[in-house]
Amino acid sequence: MNILILGSGGRESAFAWKLSQSPKCDQLFIAPGNAGTGQYGLNINIKVTDFEGIKRIVLDRNVNLVLVGPEEPLVKGIHDFFLADDQLKNIPVIGPQRYGAQLEGSKDFSKQFMERHNIPAAASKTFTRETLQEGFEYLATIGLPIVLKADGLAAGKGVLICTTVQEAQQELIEMLTEAKFGEASSKVVVEQFLQGIELSVFVLTDGTHYKILPEAKDYKRIGEGDTGLNTGGMGSVSPVPFADAAFMKKVEERVIIPTVEGLKKENIRYKGFIFIGLMNCYGEPYVIEYNCRMGDPETESVMPRITSDFADLLEGVANGNLNEKELQISNKIAATVMMVSGGYPGEYLKDRTITGIENVRDSHVFHAGTYLDNENVKTSGGRVLAVTSLQVDLFTALQQATADASRIYYDGMYFRKDIGFDLL
Ligand SMILES: Nc1ncnc2c1ncn2[C@@H]1O[C@H](COP(=O)(O)OP(=O)(O)O)[C@@H](O)[C@H]1O
Ligand SMILES: [Mg+2]
Repeated sequence: MNILILGSGGRESAFAWKLSQSPKCDQLFIAPGNAGTGQYGLNINIKVTDFEGIKRIVLDRNVNLVLVGPEEPLVKGIHDFFLADDQLKNIPVIGPQRYGAQLEGSKDFSKQFMERHNIPAAASKTFTRETLQEGFEYLATIGLPIVLKADGLAAGKGVLICTTVQEAQQELIEMLTEAKFGEASSKVVVEQFLQGIELSVFVLTDGTHYKILPEAKDYKRIGEGDTGLNTGGMGSVSPVPFADAAFMKKVEERVIIPTVEGLKKENIRYKGFIFIGLMNCYGEPYVIEYNCRMGDPETESVMPRITSDFADLLEGVANGNLNEKELQISNKIAATVMMVSGGYPGEYLKDRTITGIENVRDSHVFHAGTYLDNENVKTSGGRVLAVTSLQVDLFTALQQATADASRIYYDGMYFRKDIGFDLL
């Protein structure tokens, strides 16, 4: 089959790398892709939200399956667009329809969903401009610190953790009445703070059956020791040592099964990934959030650990027979170090020539923010390259990924040298 991947980051590079190895994958297209995805397939320069443009690619290139990388086209209804079009309706899209994508696109929707299906999560209430006063009363009752979440997509910036009630009140006013995060904060979820350690669990579902993909842990802060500003993610590891069999059994029974069953009961036809952001609170799992796609940079650690045919699994999602497919997972440990541009996550350097990728010894280099300028690979984004090493133990994987990242150079390059060390 011919497969089209939508997106241009490290996640999509890891998908492209994995799918290009499948005997089931004939031609692979990536839109828009980056300098790295071009090694695995053909890049086509169309934006992920240009649905008409995507339709043209699908028809011109005889695409048989579309894998959606990022959330934006899902939340904007790319799957619905396909279903509503006579020429596209039989071409499977991996990723939920707009309604189901609200699991990520609306924090209020996802909290209500968890509540309806008794899925463990922090206590919370949602407020609007009209119920600001009730919001103030709630703030005074839930204890400190207080978590405020803009309801809609806010590019990973819409969650605030406030240490005093006064600060929370001020932020709530700014979010609800001054549109601090635009339309996204016209509703705000006020939530109890959960103490614990986070991890990401990934589920692939055809709407009835599911497979649990390798779990991962990501590192969000720019600075070593988890300090400084939040980023899209500075690294990841998989598996997660504290997600042992007993913990994962609780996750499956209390979270994954009720989630997949809940979607079915509510007639939400969901084909794609469910990314479950979890807090491990003294051995008990609580859901922090759902996302409707894979994580980045978690995918870069997850894909190398899947040893079975990923295109075959996606075909199972499309055809509703995922239960008949085999998911094999390597026991090896994957560590990913994200190399970023100088200045990131603020204003950052661009168009710097990258050298030394050929010197990498025992890691995969997944391109994220890169492009080809004639023969030169140059930087275009804040997150530039994901360097992933798969080894027999975590220490070796971390050491190798870090050593290989050091073999690459571009002006202003930076990466964290402490990814995963908290887990050793
Ligand atoms: N209830 C909570 N208790 C403690 N920390 C939280 C809570 N909710 C969110 N966080 C922290 O804030 C981060 C961002 O929240 P999340 O719901 O994942 O939003 P998003 O990824 O959309 O920005 C989480 O990764 C977690 O570190
Ligand atoms: Mg999150």
